[in-house]
Amino acid sequence: MKPEPVTVTVPLGARSYPILIGSKLIDRAGALIAPYLRRPRVHIVTDANVAPIYLGRLQAALTAAGIASAATVVAAGEASKSFASLETLLDALLDARVERKTTLIALGGGVIGDLAGFAAAVVLRGIDFIQIPTTLLAQVDSAVGGKTGIDTRHGKNLVGAFHQPRLVLSDTDTLDTLPLREVRAGYAEIAKYGLIDRPAFWDWLEAHGREVIGEGVDTATRDRARTYAIAESCRAKAAIVGEDETESGARALLNLGHTFGHAFESLAGFGDAVRHGEAVAIGMVIAFALSERAELCPAGRTERIVRHLKAVGLPASPRDIPHEYTVDALWTAMLGDKKVSDGRIGFVLAKEIGGAFTTADVDPAEVRATLADALETAR
Ligand code: NAD
Ligand code: GLY
Repeated sequence: MKPEPVTVTVPLGARSYPILIGSKLIDRAGALIAPYLRRPRVHIVTDANVAPIYLGRLQAALTAAGIASAATVVAAGEASKSFASLETLLDALLDARVERKTTLIALGGGVIGDLAGFAAAVVLRGIDFIQIPTTLLAQVDSAVGGKTGIDTRHGKNLVGAFHQPRLVLSDTDTLDTLPLREVRAGYAEIAKYGLIDRPAFWDWLEAHGREVIGEGVDTATRDRARTYAIAESCRAKAAIVGEDETESGARALLNLGHTFGHAFESLAGFGDAVRHGEAVAIGMVIAFALSERAELCPAGRTERIVRHLKAVGLPASPRDIPHEYTVDALWTAMLGDKKVSDGRIGFVLAKEIGGAFTTADVDPAEVRATLADALETAR
């Protein structure tokens, strides 16, 4: 008997779709995907790290279910979220003669999901796509909710589209081959949901976070903790996306830590210095430090968050990133973020752990002072 995957639904009316979370789903992908295809024909987009491990298995599973597949492999890493890679990918799709009823499958982490999802949104004015996320970050965040896009020289994710997948297939076994640093980076986005509006989940993470990372526990305990954490994260995100698909309100809460985090990432050059999830972890600490400084949040919450992030092996300070930041450079980078409106930066702050809110009413001097404290430099 194969265990049934856990199902979480993203509630978007006629465009609602399931997220299936479980073990060995790639090997069952043909049967699981078939009901969502308009024609038994797919085009898989994946990256050079993921392809040797999972592409053959996925294609074999599709073939067994009578689904024809072609594949395009792009370079691994954030640099693939670029105009150049998008153009190459679109040409590859058109060379392969994708049709309106072909479904595109994104097999990989958030980079592949964002790039391939955007290609699906624009090729032939939009074709269906399915997410098969293979990083923890993608399983708990980027594969869910339909944000797709690329980076430009102006910053991260500045060109893109909302394009919802038809199905998300999260095979938790793929995390077995994921480097530990990437597992930790994905964990930051899990912690984010607890900090936004799920205080009981945050308490659970404080007790079980190391199990999710997979340290000092047997694989059965790890897998149980991971499945629960992924499903709970998807429930949290699905509820917010269902309420505000295109980010005119509540969805902005999902940007907790991101305005700061994107600045750390972009200034460090989107390379190995800081992973997206690591930057978000540090950004969330700064968001809480700013909330405490502005007396919006009781003292001690930032310290509690730092303690937990460190316990699971995540960085909690920009001083942990091998890059020299200045307050001025960070402030300028933050002004380039897409959450800026009328020149004012939109912040996600908090009145409690699990009590995040959005505001543009923040004194820039307080932000600069918080950043200076975090950097231990002059303001
Ligand atoms: P990633 O896609 O670069 O994957 C990280 C690394 O792991 C890559 O080297 C990849 O090749 C490798 N990899 C992936 N799966 C693997 C596996 N199972 N085994 C071994 N190696 C594997 O990065 P990510 O952290 O998954 O995603 C980050 C991206 O997601 C950023 O561009 C970020 O902006 C985006 N993002 C998007 C959303 C959204 O809502 N669309 C949300 C959060 C983040
Ligand atoms: N990761 C933020 C969002 O999906 O809205």
